[in-house]
Amino acid sequence: MNNNKIKNIFLNYFKKKKHKIFKSLSIINKNKKYSNLMFINSGINQFLEYFLNKKKPKYLKIANIQKCIRITGKNNDLNIVGYDNYHHTMFEMLGNWSLGEYSQNTAIKLAWELITKKYKISKNNIYVTIFKGDKKNKLNFDKKSYNIWKKLINKKNILFFGFKHNFWKIDNFNLCGPSSEIHIDIRNKKNKKNKNGRYLVNKNNNYVIELWNIVNIKYIIKNNKILKNKYLLSNNYIDTGMGLERLCMILQNKKSTYETDIFFPIIKKIENILCIKYGKNKKIDIVIKIISDHIRTIFFSMLDGVIPNNKKEGYIIRKLIRRSLIYSYKFLNIKKPFLFKIIPIFNNKNKNIIKLLKQEELNYFFILKKNIRIVKNFIKDKIINSNLKLIDNKLILFLYETYGLYYFIIKKIANKYNLKIVNTKLIEI
Ligand code: ALA
Repeated sequence: MNNNKIKNIFLNYFKKKKHKIFKSLSIINKNKKYSNLMFINSGINQFLEYFLNKKKPKYLKIANIQKCIRITGKNNDLNIVGYDNYHHTMFEMLGNWSLGEYSQNTAIKLAWELITKKYKISKNNIYVTIFKGDKKNKLNFDKKSYNIWKKLINKKNILFFGFKHNFWKIDNFNLCGPSSEIHIDIRNKKNKKNKNGRYLVNKNNNYVIELWNIVNIKYIIKNNKILKNKYLLSNNYIDTGMGLERLCMILQNKKSTYETDIFFPIIKKIENILCIKYGKNKKIDIVIKIISDHIRTIFFSMLDGVIPNNKKEGYIIRKLIRRSLIYSYKFLNIKKPFLFKIIPIFNNKNKNIIKLLKQEELNYFFILKKNIRIVKNFIKDKIINSNLKLIDNKLILFLYETYGLYYFIIKKIANKYNLKIVNTKLIEI
């Protein structure tokens, strides 16, 4: 089942259930009234004013598919990307909302019907988690969700978690509430037999992964304090989110989102451009995954108007461009622009994006080369005038912060001048 069909099934299902379908907002968070996020980070963003009781909604049941970026703030996955098989800087979130219409019970039933009847995910591979309550915050066990889940799924596949996993706090928006999550076990038969999937839920396992988060928005949260009596809306405010890339991985029988029809064409293109192969070497695979993830985020952000520069969203996208280039420089020894050549895989008509990106890459290599020269002279000077023998943590950090030189480049320079270097964990690569 290709990703377009997967999206259509989702939208058609909720349309049939009388939900109003909304379009994806621009990936840039343009309306800063209720949140100062730079990028949209979940489907609920465009409906915040209803959840915050600032405006009366026209539709009480809504669904959409929203492009989201999570590389700033609390929900930040940047450092995991490429190192596991399913986190991304950008993803599409499939979500449905109830604005005072239906309860958590209905939301759970809808999700269940969609994944078991329409997408036909086997019940045996599904685990669900429920909020078990939290004494410190005086929050009760989510009994209502439990009562509905136990009618739908084997009790052995129901698990209970606390504040960390099953109480959703929306970054930036001051809203929160208990959540029920659906997790899927995509391991092979042998591994399933060796270890029951219930022991792998919420354990960062690559093959037992969270798919859908169903939240009953109930309270306001401010400075980590839950203000129970401040939320004035009814119990029937629901916020849900399911990752498209993960759903594709499950329905396309892949062991990684990078092997789905969303990412594999990008990977093929990278293989082609850089004359390398995916799936042969773990380190190279990480680099290919990082590039394919980042270029998708870069492309869709630029499509929505972000221009790489020194400010806000532009800076974040510049960082992703430089990060992709630095990884390919370090691990593949690529020292010239190539990201712009991947763009036609998304859409051939984006000449302007290609031009801007190429220029940005050229500029970066220009700056990098210039800074390497400056640092070499700086080091030579220090050797002669201050008898420098060692590049320590402090100097590494200074060179990184002042000249943007990564540790692996500084190490090369140290080697060239026979200087000792003290390793540091402060800098990523
Ligand atoms: N807004 C919730 C999430 O991001 C559903 O998971």
